[in-house]
Amino acid sequence: MRNIYSLPIISGLIVALCIFYIEVYIEDFKVIVPLKNTWEFAVPHQEIPQGLVSLSAKDCGVCHVQHYEEWQKSTHANAWTDMQFQAELKKESSPFMCINCHIPLQNQQEYIIKGLENGDIYQPVKEKNPHFDAALQLEGITCASCHVRDNMIIGPTGSTLAPHPVKKDNNHLSEKLCIGCHNATAVITPTLACSFQTGDEWKAGPFYNQKNCISCHMPEINRSVVAGMPARKSRFHSFPASGIPKSPTHHPEHLESLTFNPSPIKKLYSTTDSLLFSITLTNAHAGHRVPTGNPERFIITEMKITDDNGQEISKKQERIGEHWEWHPVVEKISDNNLDPGESRTYSLKQKPLSKGKYKLSVSVSKHRLTPESAKYNKLGSDYPLLFVAWEKEYEFVVK
Ligand code: HEC
Ligand code: HEC
Ligand code: HEC
Ligand code: HEC
Ligand code: HEC
Repeated sequence: MRNIYSLPIISGLIVALCIFYIEVYIEDFKVIVPLKNTWEFAVPHQEIPQGLVSLSAKDCGVCHVQHYEEWQKSTHANAWTDMQFQAELKKESSPFMCINCHIPLQNQQEYIIKGLENGDIYQPVKEKNPHFDAALQLEGITCASCHVRDNMIIGPTGSTLAPHPVKKDNNHLSEKLCIGCHNATAVITPTLACSFQTGDEWKAGPFYNQKNCISCHMPEINRSVVAGMPARKSRFHSFPASGIPKSPTHHPEHLESLTFNPSPIKKLYSTTDSLLFSITLTNAHAGHRVPTGNPERFIITEMKITDDNGQEISKKQERIGEHWEWHPVVEKISDNNLDPGESRTYSLKQKPLSKGKYKLSVSVSKHRLTPESAKYNKLGSDYPLLFVAWEKEYEFVVK
């Protein structure tokens, strides 16, 4: 009898002991998994190339005055200080690798990441970076992010006129450099995804093999790149795009993708006439979809009729952009971004109006994020949310 009962007791004890041992074993045994995805790595530590005093954009700007002034206007120069980025970064859900495209050089990062504890992106194995340069961090995507590798300045011609070593590398300084940061698709956790496909959109579109990131966003100009030097082929460094500022003092340059084709309207209507207005937006000048990149971006076309007292008679708003759900799992719900070359027409139909003077106001604006999202991220009421790309007012009379 005793034997019959002792067997399950003993085997139960063995199982319990095993579980106990497995738990202790796992707790003590932390596997350091090496980093694997490209965006998990910083650009390795860079020494200051010979002949230069630092890696900072400010110091490059002592000689390359125009490049520095242009770059200062760019979103790249704001990639770290951007309040929206800082707000996102402080969230517990933001893993360590968020910084790798915003401050890409190891020199700009406080810690060196050796691997991930048990492969968990929220448990990076950190070591203090003895070469951390806090001033360089503030510059975000700085000159050295794109131009300094292996103690050399990477350039497009290998110029021998420079006081610093120059290595010609057109493969590095190609659209591949841009796409390295401007194309990432990864579901990191069930509620966190990276979704930038500007590179893929360009490859699938009509501009592929004709124009690339650099030919559109860094237009060519003949000029001297250091005062007193002979003029040569150069490129603007302000990286113009949607025109939405990053702060109240930021004035980025603007490159417009859309053409705006409004229908004509009459100046005079009778009390039995209805009014029909339409506007066609065409993505004529972008080599990718619009908006592209951050899925929070959207475009609003607004058409509004007001009477002589400013009283609103009718209003219509149309949205181009994506809709995402983040809980319980991240999922794209819809996407009506404009493909390269694609057109969209919006119209407003107004039933006959009573006698009087009226105004039709039409605007197309580019938005970085919604006011709700800005408030949620505590960005402050003066944080710029949009840029008005096109607007027009039409006055008409009903008799
Ligand atoms: C002391 C002046 C000086 C400083 C500081 C300086 N440069 Fe230059 N750089 C030059 C001169 C001069 C040239 C040659 C211009 C020419 O080819 O007409 C040059 C050329 C270049 C080129 C073009 C190379 C090519 O292949 O055509 C790049 C890129 C460049 N510099 C980047 C930088 C960066 C980045 C920094 C800061 C880390 C920097 N420079 C700091 C003077 C300077
Ligand atoms: C190290 C990563 C990195 C590289 C390399 C890079 N970018 Fe960017 N780029 C960014 C980030 C990050 C932002 C946005 C910063 C922000 O919004 O805070 C940005 C912003 C931009 C913008 C402005 C978007 C806007 O709405 O203002 C343009 C245009 C742009 N990049 C084009 C380029 C081109 C062209 C190249 C290649 C020559 C390039 N980028 C290379 C990371 C990178
Ligand atoms: C044919 C020209 C052209 C090419 C090629 C092109 N772009 Fe653009 N890009 C534009 C224009 C124009 C805009 C302005 C969009 C707008 O109207 O708001 C833009 C906007 C952007 C933006 C801002 C996103 C937004 O929603 O405002 C980024 C980032 C960008 N481009 C990156 C790139 C990268 C990276 C490449 C290469 C893979 C590239 N572009 C290729 C013309 C181009
Ligand atoms: C996002 C990447 C990026 C950043 C940031 C950047 N550059 Fe460049 N730069 C390039 C590319 C790409 C080229 C080469 C384009 C080509 O093939 O003609 C270039 C070319 C140059 C040249 C050669 C002449 C010319 O104008 O084409 C100089 C000089 C230069 N950069 C200086 C600077 C300085 C100084 C800064 C910072 C103030 C800076 N760059 C920031 C990408 C960058
Ligand atoms: C693979 C490179 C890469 C990584 C990794 C990355 N970003 Fe970015 N980030 C970008 C680029 C490129 C842009 C500019 C996109 C655009 O304007 O179209 C950007 C823009 C932003 C912006 C500004 C959005 C806007 O509309 O202007 C915020 C905020 C941001 N990133 C937060 C984060 C956070 C948080 C993480 C980590 C979860 C992260 N980023 C990781 C490349 C990256």
